Amino acid sequence: MLQGKSILLGISGGIAVYKAAELLRLFVKAGASVHVVMTENAQRFVTPLTFQALSNNPVGCELFSMQSESQISHIQKARLPDLVVLAPATANLMAKMAAGIADDLLTTILLAATAPVLVCPAMNVKMWEHPATRRNLRTLTELGYKIEPPASGFLACQEEGAGRLAELCDIFESALRLLTPPTLAGRSVLISAGPTREYFDPVRFLSNPSSGKMGYALARIAARRSAKVVLVSGPVSLDCPSGVERVCVASALQMRDAIVELSAQQDAIVMTAAVSDYRPSELSAQKIKKSAEGFSVRFEPNPDILASLGQTKPPGQVLVGFAAETQNVFENAKDKLIRKNLDLIVANDLAKEGAGFGLDTNQVKIIGRNREPIDLALMTKDEVACEIWDRVERLLSGGEN
Ligand code: C5P
Repeated sequence: MLQGKSILLGISGGIAVYKAAELLRLFVKAGASVHVVMTENAQRFVTPLTFQALSNNPVGCELFSMQSESQISHIQKARLPDLVVLAPATANLMAKMAAGIADDLLTTILLAATAPVLVCPAMNVKMWEHPATRRNLRTLTELGYKIEPPASGFLACQEEGAGRLAELCDIFESALRLLTPPTLAGRSVLISAGPTREYFDPVRFLSNPSSGKMGYALARIAARRSAKVVLVSGPVSLDCPSGVERVCVASALQMRDAIVELSAQQDAIVMTAAVSDYRPSELSAQKIKKSAEGFSVRFEPNPDILASLGQTKPPGQVLVGFAAETQNVFENAKDKLIRKNLDLIVANDLAKEGAGFGLDTNQVKIIGRNREPIDLALMTKDEVACEIWDRVERLLSGGEN
């Protein structure tokens, strides 16, 4: 994901310094080349050696070091990265940045850097809420710095509140977003994901094993490309991707209502949800008692959400469906594309190994109306999502499907 990218990780002196080591590992694992610069106080918490070993690069500590100045100056260091991440960023570092002070290696680099800078504050809650920090934060935002707000919770100083370094996965995701071309900026997209639950008594329901992974990958990648993303999700055990608005629903009727309310303002809608085709005709108010005779439930058809979106589609909106098939994949999917008035359909062959429910990989065919279908190799769901958005983007800019 970060192959060929260069990140400068600036570390200032707070108790969260130890978390920067794990963040560095995430960047390195994703293929980035990382250079670390530490303030003097940061070095009191964790030694530069840890970061040197993890990054496989020398760690910058001093502004006027004979050795490092001859190898790579602070100005060169500032030119080098595609992204600067400051984690943890202390109140002191933020104050210096807001004032334009350059009195050590890190702050000097920051004045000379041209790459986007992601500031991840971590401090005591009182310091975070202090009017001076608030003012500095506003100044930093005005100056174009991106802020990853701290999380709330139990702090190292034994107090409760905001000030904990943001979750590393959220910092990582924000970094990815800053490194991804914003090809969906200004676009609103809606994605449905997961199964639906059709209850026939308060504790029992009809459902299916959809994990929601494909839909969540689509939401994550769209947010990474700077779209405004709403994810209408059935019950799944996945965290909402950062930068995505999630609407949680249970039944197909709830999913339909949520989607219909939001559909008109969307530039693209991708329906990955495994919507139950049927719902019980009756819902028992009480738990159905166990009995020797057994019992039967009558099911009636649910509305086809995608088909109704196809009927009311505003001009220019791109509508994408999914087709999970076990036979005649192409013919069945193409038939759905026409019948439901879609622009694209993504067909997966459930009989193929590595494709479908619950997995992190998928193998799909993307079928449009006019162009030849595209057969994709087995790849991660994130990669499939990239391929789908590439095609949606082409359609949004007036290309053929
Ligand atoms: O016709 P079939 O259910 O196979 O079509 C699958 C596509 O239709 C998926 O994109 C799914 O999200 C959508 N769908 C729907 N409402 C239903 C059933 C399926 O929107 N009731």
